[in-house]
Amino acid sequence: MVVRPNVKELPGPKAQEIIKKNFEALAVTTQDPDTLPIVIDHGDGILVYDVDGNVFYDFGSGVGVLNVGHAHPRVVEAVKKQAEKFTHFALNDFFYENAIILANKLAELAPGDFPKKVVYQNSGAEANEAMMKLVKYGTGRKRFIAFYHAFHGRTQAVLSLTASKWVQQERFFPTMPGVEHIPYPNPYRNPWHIDGYAEPDELVNRVIEFIEEYVFRHVPPEEVGAIVFEPIQGEGGYVVPPKNFFKELKKLADNYGILLADDEVQMGVGRTGKFWAIEHFGIAPDTIQFGKAIGGGIPLAGVVHRADIAFDKPGRHASTFGGNPVAIAAGIEVVEIVKELLPHVQDVGDYLHKRLKELEEKYEVIGDARGLGLAQAVEIVKSKDTKEKHPELRNEIVKEAVKRGLILLGCGDNSIRFIPPLTISKEEIDVAMEIFEESLKAALQ
Ligand SMILES: Cc1ncc(COP(=O)(O)O)c(C=O)c1O
Repeated sequence: MVVRPNVKELPGPKAQEIIKKNFEALAVTTQDPDTLPIVIDHGDGILVYDVDGNVFYDFGSGVGVLNVGHAHPRVVEAVKKQAEKFTHFALNDFFYENAIILANKLAELAPGDFPKKVVYQNSGAEANEAMMKLVKYGTGRKRFIAFYHAFHGRTQAVLSLTASKWVQQERFFPTMPGVEHIPYPNPYRNPWHIDGYAEPDELVNRVIEFIEEYVFRHVPPEEVGAIVFEPIQGEGGYVVPPKNFFKELKKLADNYGILLADDEVQMGVGRTGKFWAIEHFGIAPDTIQFGKAIGGGIPLAGVVHRADIAFDKPGRHASTFGGNPVAIAAGIEVVEIVKELLPHVQDVGDYLHKRLKELEEKYEVIGDARGLGLAQAVEIVKSKDTKEKHPELRNEIVKEAVKRGLILLGCGDNSIRFIPPLTISKEEIDVAMEIFEESLKAALQ
């Protein structure tokens, strides 16, 4: 028997009190208490228990962090054991063996038959900062190409790569100069809005042509250090590019000696059914930025990169907490658990995709259901014909779902992502789909 979500009152009295205090004490982030008024007491696997005793299914996984689920016993044990020995010893000055063990595991899992190294950071944005410094230092080139709708983080230099929402940029200009943006090959909404270019091959060709024809018209290719990309755009709406896209991108990059910098902060660590999402696309990137899920909820991030662009002198780059021993201990367990889970993720991921596709067939407002593994999303539109985006309805659906105990997160302008912990069962997916459909119907009324 699966445990079902159970919500009596949301927010309950205790949650209301805490949310009020939160806004008195803390800076505004992206919290939206009208949509997600959830104050956690504790979590267990895919379940979240709030302070008033309400029970939820977590289909957001703490924004893609809890791939192994809440409080996985093996992660908890590893953290406890490590915390009893030492919680910090500054990897920038000293040494501990676990840091090497995890680095070797991550490098071995990364595609590409070339020597690799790892630099540890604390957040996804920092991982991308480190990647930019590695590329600049290792290649001597200072410019980057990134994609429209990309999200790579919010620190000052990384903001120059992020092209997701203007609110993230407003009043923060100037960010780092030298970044050109190009359209991401979105099979559902091709960026040229011209009929006929929706064919995957044509879409890929157009993006490659765009770089050659428009970017390289004014940017000397030999000044470009890397093309930075998400293997599936996450915050941009869980957009899966055509299968051959990265192969074609790599051909272009190789022609000009440009590196490929793969941001796997949201899609890596088993989320798509492969350890790294880029494995679906058959290329070896030069850098892989990781974060979010790797520490099982403890901040840990970094870059696996070609050894020949490594920082080479003490002081070039370091971070006091980068590679914190408690986070590393959790990371080692996470890698092992995720490796064991990969066949399961492919199986339940296909099942979730099938269930969402059935709903796409049934409802006019679901324009597209897409994803790989347990990185799935639906795009909410006014009608299938016009594909006009319907963000208001999307927001209503998320609200209705949360009221019924299903935590969902929006992404893109009008999409909803379904990213439960990788441990989820088909029975739990069935319960979630039942709640999602009820919520959709309620939102449509
Ligand atoms: C692809 C990607 N890169 C980078 C980041 C930034 O990570 P962080 O919030 O840990 O700085 C995110 C966060 O959502 C992300 O999805």
